[in-house]
Amino acid sequence: MSELEKKTESGSVDAAKDGASSEQKAEGDSGVGMGILFFIAAFAVCFLSGWLLFPSLLYSKKEQPFNFNHALHVAETGGCESCHSFREDGTFAGVPKNSSCIECHESQLGETEDEAIFMTEYVEKGKEVPWLIYSKQPDCVFFSHAAHVTGAKMDCVTCHGNIGESTTMKPYQENRITGYSRDIWGENIWGVKKNPWDRMKMDDCAKCHQEETGSKGACFQCHK
Ligand code: HEC
Ligand code: HEC
Ligand code: HEC
Ligand code: HEC
Ligand code: HEC
Repeated sequence: MSELEKKTESGSVDAAKDGASSEQKAEGDSGVGMGILFFIAAFAVCFLSGWLLFPSLLYSKKEQPFNFNHALHVAETGGCESCHSFREDGTFAGVPKNSSCIECHESQLGETEDEAIFMTEYVEKGKEVPWLIYSKQPDCVFFSHAAHVTGAKMDCVTCHGNIGESTTMKPYQENRITGYSRDIWGENIWGVKKNPWDRMKMDDCAKCHQEETGSKGACFQCHK
């Protein structure tokens, strides 16, 4: 029965009116039901594609110059200090320069391709390795290793995780909008944090300062 037929019928025949309108109502209900179903289906499709696609679109992957094996080198040197030292003035030297490597890598020690790249592209050409720094903060942020490691006696693992035990480097991921490393906002797009090193946003610095010192600190403490 078409809509028009139904209308004229219910309009002209009074007795059929109740029946027809309840029939219409039932049709309307199934329309709403279909609408809700369609909405849920469309929402699920958009939600899932956004969920899976958004992070891969938001971040671009960049390769490191070659793989650096931390576990191997920590075993060779016996610790972190030989490469990540504090200078005489107390400032942190950060990532080591080639001069820290050449004492052992005067000539190629092993057979691996990573070492060959290091030797031919950097040591022999006298070029420093342009490592991409996972934990790099925006330029507006002031961070001092001396205050945390020398002063507050904190362990590297608290903020960096088990980098010292790793054998391979993960790909560096750069946020296409802000240009920041993915490690600042973290891997988890819900913002769930299981370990203290999963993320290092402003709130994460401030949360620890609140717990350790009883105050989040003034803006100019971290923004000079
Ligand atoms: C205490 C000595 C020592 C120092 C210092 C050192 N290395 Fe090594 N490195 C080694 C040894 C030993 C190997 C293993 C060589 C082999 O048998 O493959 C190695 C291997 C490597 C490899 C190849 C590893 C792999 O698994 O493919 C790279 C790349 C490398 N070193 C880079 C560096 C860089 C960069 C530095 C400086 C930041 C450095 N090394 C400092 C001793 C050292
Ligand atoms: C032989 C030298 C050497 C030793 C020993 C060494 N590192 Fe490194 N470290 C490097 C080099 C080279 C890089 C830059 C490449 C990279 O990120 O792996 C680096 C990078 C790092 C970074 C910065 C990662 C980032 O990009 O934010 C951390 C954190 C770190 N090392 C921690 C440690 C800890 C903790 C130890 C001791 C358990 C240690 N390292 C021992 C050479 C060394
Ligand atoms: C309180 C947290 C914290 C602790 C503890 C900590 N780091 Fe860092 N580290 C950071 C932050 C934040 C950055 C990024 C700094 C920036 O970009 O200005 C960083 C950067 C680095 C870098 C990259 C180069 C640089 O200096 O920017 C290296 C290498 C590094 N840390 C090694 C270590 C080692 C080794 C230890 C232990 C001796 C350690 N860190 C302890 C938070 C920490
Ligand atoms: C897990 C704990 C922890 C985290 C995470 C942390 N801090 Fe700290 N921070 C401390 C402690 C403890 C001190 C020492 C406080 C003191 O000496 O009074 C400190 C001191 C500082 C100071 C020196 C204050 C001064 O004037 O001497 C600065 C600057 C600072 N933090 C910046 C940062 C920034 C930026 C981050 C995040 C990128 C950060 N911190 C993450 C614990 C933390
Ligand atoms: C404990 C250290 C700390 C303190 C205190 C702090 N900040 Fe930050 N702030 C950071 C860090 C780390 C970042 C970069 C990571 C991020 O975006 O969360 C940041 C980022 C920012 C940004 C975004 C800049 C950009 O380029 O992404 C603004 C704006 C800002 N802070 C303002 C403030 C103001 C205003 C205050 C005082 C109420 C303050 N901050 C106090 C650590 C701090």
